Amino acid sequence: MTQLAASDDGALGFPEGFTWGAATAAYQIEGAAGAGGRGPSVWDTFSHTPGKVRGGDTGDIACDSYHRYREDVALLAALGLSSYRFSISWPRIQPGGRGAVNQRGLDYYRALLDKLGEHGIAATVTLFHWDLPQELQDEGGWAARDTAERFAEFTALAAEALGDRVARWITLNEPQVVSTNGCRNGDHAPGLRDAAAASATTHHLLLGHGLAVRALRAAGAAEVGITLDLHPVRVLGGNGSGELELGRLITDAAANGIYLGPVLHGRYPEHAPPDLLPPAALIADGDLDVIRAPLDFLGVNYYSPIFLRAGDAADLRRNENPARCQLPGVVEYLPDDLERTPMGWVVDPSGLYQILVEVSKQAPGLPLFVTENGCAAEDYVNPDGEVNDVERVRYLHTHLEAAARAIKDGASLAGYFVWSLLDNFEWGWGYQKRFGIVFVDFGTQRRIPKASAAFYANVVRANAIPLLPANWPR
Ligand code: FCB
Repeated sequence: MTQLAASDDGALGFPEGFTWGAATAAYQIEGAAGAGGRGPSVWDTFSHTPGKVRGGDTGDIACDSYHRYREDVALLAALGLSSYRFSISWPRIQPGGRGAVNQRGLDYYRALLDKLGEHGIAATVTLFHWDLPQELQDEGGWAARDTAERFAEFTALAAEALGDRVARWITLNEPQVVSTNGCRNGDHAPGLRDAAAASATTHHLLLGHGLAVRALRAAGAAEVGITLDLHPVRVLGGNGSGELELGRLITDAAANGIYLGPVLHGRYPEHAPPDLLPPAALIADGDLDVIRAPLDFLGVNYYSPIFLRAGDAADLRRNENPARCQLPGVVEYLPDDLERTPMGWVVDPSGLYQILVEVSKQAPGLPLFVTENGCAAEDYVNPDGEVNDVERVRYLHTHLEAAARAIKDGASLAGYFVWSLLDNFEWGWGYQKRFGIVFVDFGTQRRIPKASAAFYANVVRANAIPLLPANWPR
């Protein structure tokens, strides 16, 4: 296996006490869908609907982490990580999304938290990573205001029962994806193509976040934040023409501002396209005050930027797409010269630098955590029984370098969680896309740490980025 030498010049070191972690989500790894009194979630329904997930894959078994959590915690410990980000499955705690708690669900998370505690690994717990109880969806899901209240109730139950073992709470993971992919495009659960439901979902998720922050504070929670997927918007060429600059502002509002604005500043952004904004009738007096409740940190998930350039939406060229800003003369574009992962996502570490620096300016002093960053790769077990994921090592190396530079330039970055600990159920792509630093043979559930796991453990141990040899394979 290709080895890396540790750097000793300290040039790319991280601050003392920097949090190093790995992230997962309940539906993607737990399996045991029908075990322990768990109720169905929208992702069970969606994945069991023919044609929704590639190859008909479901999360029924996934990585079976529900039964194998001890082994998975041992992997985290072997990597030397100081924190584990995982999510609690709401329908394991409240199978129908309301009312009495399912004790067996709580027992599972308590056992997982205790195991982490034995290894001195701090728990970073996401309360909603997309697996809404199906019964709540049947009553309107996040398009219904009541779901925000139900989420606050679930949060209070979880905080009460587990709070003494949790270091850091994340209310929501990527609400933008729930609204856009789940309700507007329909390529995620619950699979709606309903613009009105999508914009109502945006507001009720944000309200649910604010109410959950309140519930967590009332329960004496240690640290509270939210995780947003943030997408720096980069303009190519065009000499900053008026149209492109306006396009940048609108795109940034559509992708980022609709969530960042209310959470940080208590207002929806002025440049947001009106059809994405929740209608005024849905925004009750005081909602935005609830939503902008002070936070202890912001979680940033970073994968790819959005690129804009001058073009004609009616006459698209190769690698061009219609722009979400909908301005004539502006198109979105995937630059030819940048590598792409098997997801088709452009690899651009400078986007991570940009977003960390920008958000730190918007929210001075607020600690940031990269709560997800990583890539899919075409991983395989070689005849030596090893998984030599050179692409992921390069990806992590360049993105960690960008994070270190952002800190030097003033970003208040307090930690980094790689996505993901394990290969897992990658939503609409099923098991085809592997994001883990640990390979999972889904047929046998055997775990094999990849070369990237050794690389990452090296970074964690040194609290610095080792030098990547100039001849590192492509
Ligand atoms: C993010 C999700 C996470 C995972 C990565 C690849 O949008 O939060 O669950 O699927 O993408």
